[in-house]
Amino acid sequence: MKILLLGKNGQVGWELQRSLAPLGEVLALDRHSTTYCGDLSQPDKLAQTVLAYKPDFIVNAAAHTAVDKAESEPELARLLNAEAPAALAKAAAQIGAWLVHYSTDYVFDGSGSHAREEGEGAGPLNVYGQTKHEGEQAIAASGCKYLIFRTSWVYAARGGNFAKTMLRLAQERDKLTVINDQHGAPTGADLIADITAHAMRRVLNTQNISLGGVYHLVASGETTWHGYASHVIAQAKRMSPDLPWKVSDIAPVPTAAFATPAARPFNSRLCTNKLQQAFGLVLPPWQQGVDRMLTEIL
Ligand SMILES: NC(=O)c1ccc[n+]([C@@H]2O[C@H](COP(=O)([O-])OP(=O)(O)OC[C@H]3O[C@@H](n4cnc5c(N)ncnc54)[C@H](OP(=O)(O)O)[C@@H]3O)[C@@H](O)[C@H]2O)c1
Repeated sequence: MKILLLGKNGQVGWELQRSLAPLGEVLALDRHSTTYCGDLSQPDKLAQTVLAYKPDFIVNAAAHTAVDKAESEPELARLLNAEAPAALAKAAAQIGAWLVHYSTDYVFDGSGSHAREEGEGAGPLNVYGQTKHEGEQAIAASGCKYLIFRTSWVYAARGGNFAKTMLRLAQERDKLTVINDQHGAPTGADLIADITAHAMRRVLNTQNISLGGVYHLVASGETTWHGYASHVIAQAKRMSPDLPWKVSDIAPVPTAAFATPAARPFNSRLCTNKLQQAFGLVLPPWQQGVDRMLTEIL
């Protein structure tokens, strides 16, 4: 089996290099790759890569993920998040390949307090969410076989993320203020990659095309950014009491306390029943992966 992986050095892409390796031959590209083009800003060349390599699966972990920056460069965000996936999907349809793609809770407007199911109406609040939703729609309209995993609040041991920022700030400041009115589930890139590999193996072994579609893929449970920060700092202090911790107060504040270019949804809860039932998988509590990541980096 041949797999084309795009975005090999992102949080999820890096973990996919590990989790996809046992499934077959993996051609892993980033935007700088030369023999084959892996640059999302060149959709035509991406399609040429697909047609030349003829993979059984295309796994696209690359995206324009800078949510605030996307507000000031919507054309680039659209090119990377919508036009590139559209070109990949069209090429996948041409050669009968599966396209595995990632999307986000930001396709929703974040109203209410329930865990959203896959079929609920979208209503993105920002350019990133809008362009990611356009990417989903283009894939669905292309006629290719696809799996789209919507995830949220992604972290990894490698690369920068919210948890690492909190660990740094907790050693620099006495007091932190963290948003406590946005709700979601921190989800590890390693979990996303492992679930992806399990799902791909299932569709490969069963040849069941009806397994294709959109799935919500987040760790179980929920928290707020404030709850997440408090957990990370408490655990880190327990694990590494000798580090120069300064923080003594983690104050909860509303979203309105932090002005950002992009609006964020208050409710990022995603219901994962569909994924767990379709693939016979269990999504562990968010704390499990976060604690593991802390053990790795501390
Ligand atoms: N991070 C989150 O909290 C989050 C939440 C929900 C959904 N998602 C989705 O999950 C997927 C994986 O996200 P992630 O957290 O792994 O993101 P990430 O760590 O920011 O990685 C994104 C990757 O895309 C690459 N990229 C950017 N522009 C490119 C281009 N023109 N051509 C090729 N590659 C390009 C980046 O490469 P460089 O390193 O060279 O810039 C980076 O390696 C994305 O689809 C994202 O939308 C993420």
